[in-house]
Amino acid sequence: MPEPLEDVGTFSAHIFSMHVPSLIEKKREGKELTADEIGELISGFTHGEIPDYQMSAWAMAVFFRGMTAAETQHLTTAMMESGNVLEYPDGSPPKVDKHSTGGIGDKVSLVLAPLLACDEVWVPMISGRGLGITGGTLDKLESIPGFNIHIDERRALTQLKSIGVFMIGQSADICPADKKLYALRDVTGTVPSQPLIVASIMSKKLAENLDRLVLDVKFGSGAFMKTRKEARQLAAAMTEVGKLMGVKVTHLLSPMDEPLGRAVGNALEVTECVEILQGGGPEDVIKLVLDLAEQVSTASRAKLAGWLKDGTAWRKFISLVYAQDGDASSLETLGQVHRAPIVHQFPAPSAGVVKKMDAETIGRASLFLGGGRQTPGDTVDFAVGFSGIKKIGETVETGEPLLFVHARNDQTLRSVLPLLEKSIEVSG
Ligand code: URA
Repeated sequence: MPEPLEDVGTFSAHIFSMHVPSLIEKKREGKELTADEIGELISGFTHGEIPDYQMSAWAMAVFFRGMTAAETQHLTTAMMESGNVLEYPDGSPPKVDKHSTGGIGDKVSLVLAPLLACDEVWVPMISGRGLGITGGTLDKLESIPGFNIHIDERRALTQLKSIGVFMIGQSADICPADKKLYALRDVTGTVPSQPLIVASIMSKKLAENLDRLVLDVKFGSGAFMKTRKEARQLAAAMTEVGKLMGVKVTHLLSPMDEPLGRAVGNALEVTECVEILQGGGPEDVIKLVLDLAEQVSTASRAKLAGWLKDGTAWRKFISLVYAQDGDASSLETLGQVHRAPIVHQFPAPSAGVVKKMDAETIGRASLFLGGGRQTPGDTVDFAVGFSGIKKIGETVETGEPLLFVHARNDQTLRSVLPLLEKSIEVSG
């Protein structure tokens, strides 16, 4: 999720010429705005010439009236062009990336990015921090001692040339309009507007100047979209905008009713990624990584799976960590670097089959443990979370751990136990 705008920096002054109330009224009446009108609105807002109250009214009009595909494309373009768009040398390999709408235990980027970079493509991955119940790639990366997510554009390009991949955060000069508009939407009840979501996500991804993009649109209790239908609509709208803007966009719809993999929490998830990159790890994560990789890679699924098994992707990840100032020698002992004082077994009340492992509640419990942030400024505890999570359909004995809770103290542990009781069901 984007963080609130602190500084839109040094963007040049802009002369605003349109009558804003007329644009708000036009949208309020359900009429289609032109590319110029949308461009002026976004530019005027980014430069501080349109006050928050007018932009809020416009966002609410969009919330109720929606936008046509053309309007959504114009909004995406205007937001993308509010800041820098990455540039690459002529003749450079195809640029590919993935966007996930976010889920519990979704650590796919940490495996997918180095895996894709084993192929003849560049992976310029700009990711976000976690907010609310879903964790963010940047927080997971920062649990690796020294890992620097703030490398500048020149250094990032040099890194692409040498190892084919970077994983960084959004700088102030990428899509400043989105940062500012998202902060406003967050406090005006206008986040769940499909065209605003589409433009927000796609403007940031398209600022990477990609050739191919795969979308992982999740649905279910632990996802932004609760139903498959909503996820399909969002995926179709994002795909349409990508196509209109000349990028090959494909998508997967993936369920998010139970956590992905067996770990939730920052360092715990990195440890799970290390297992996968070393040829092991949970099947569901591996399958999703390969499903997504296939969409944007020129390598076959068998070749991609081989790179996970034979250490090629692992070596690429080590190069990535070192290239971004991280201590790759700590990767295999990250559980000791970030060790929670309490590791509590949560036992199965009876023998049987796991029927429910509710992603949303486990995500909320992870937040209570301190593994996520409720507001953008919160600090994240890298050590806490859950490991050894049983998957739906697995058989357990009475008293066998359904998961392990990694807690900072007794108080946070006690706060999550009732949530876990609600989120897990075993039936005989
Ligand atoms: N993620 C984003 O980046 N933007 C939205 O509007 C919603 C989710």
